[in-house]
Amino acid sequence: MAKIGIIAALDVEINDLIKDFNAEPVNDYIYKGGFSGHEIYLTLCGIGKVNSALCTQRIIDYANPDYIINSGIAGAVSKDLKLLDTVISEKLVYHDFYPVELLKTYFPHCSEFEADKKLVKLAWEACEKFARENKDFSFKKGIIASGDMFVNSSEYNKKLDEEFGASCVEMEGAAVAHTALANKKPFLVLRTVSDGADDEAETVYDEFFALAAQRSVYLVKDIIANI
Ligand code: ADE
Repeated sequence: MAKIGIIAALDVEINDLIKDFNAEPVNDYIYKGGFSGHEIYLTLCGIGKVNSALCTQRIIDYANPDYIINSGIAGAVSKDLKLLDTVISEKLVYHDFYPVELLKTYFPHCSEFEADKKLVKLAWEACEKFARENKDFSFKKGIIASGDMFVNSSEYNKKLDEEFGASCVEMEGAAVAHTALANKKPFLVLRTVSDGADDEAETVYDEFFALAAQRSVYLVKDIIANI
């Protein structure tokens, strides 16, 4: 039995997990449920780095989980990603923190946050399985860039590619990763593409965010079933 903390920013990213894990509130922020013999703690953190860091710390303080998972949606940066494809975090970075060296002056003394290899492997296997049954699904491991902005500019998207080598962009993952690492907790971020983080991002997002969130939920359940 493992204790697993799950953090997500939006209702659509977490509600089905709360339901499927029969989770009940234990306080104003945290739900507790069970799945596949594991104890699962879930929190809806809201959007952005501060909210997600706060909620990650809350889950750690309350439950001392063995693993932290941040699941949800993202804008694509890699050219080889299409809508509803999935990115598995190898590393997380902030794209709005300058100069990045300042991050190294305080614990955990790094500016890139490396995900747990066991969780990355389980995520890869869950995606492989899903791809066998869904021929148009692609997935990749890569760098996920986080910042306090919804990226809706093709020009900024290019910068995320060139400066950070990012596969996708979202608004919480690096803060969850930073907080998990500062507490010595293994973590994973899993994100499914809801838009192209480009000039058309807003309209595409409106159509695809719920479907993308659902896909991440499905994959997270498979990952947890195999922990
Ligand atoms: N999450 C989903 N799409 C996004 C985008 N384009 N920018 C930031 N976060 C996102």
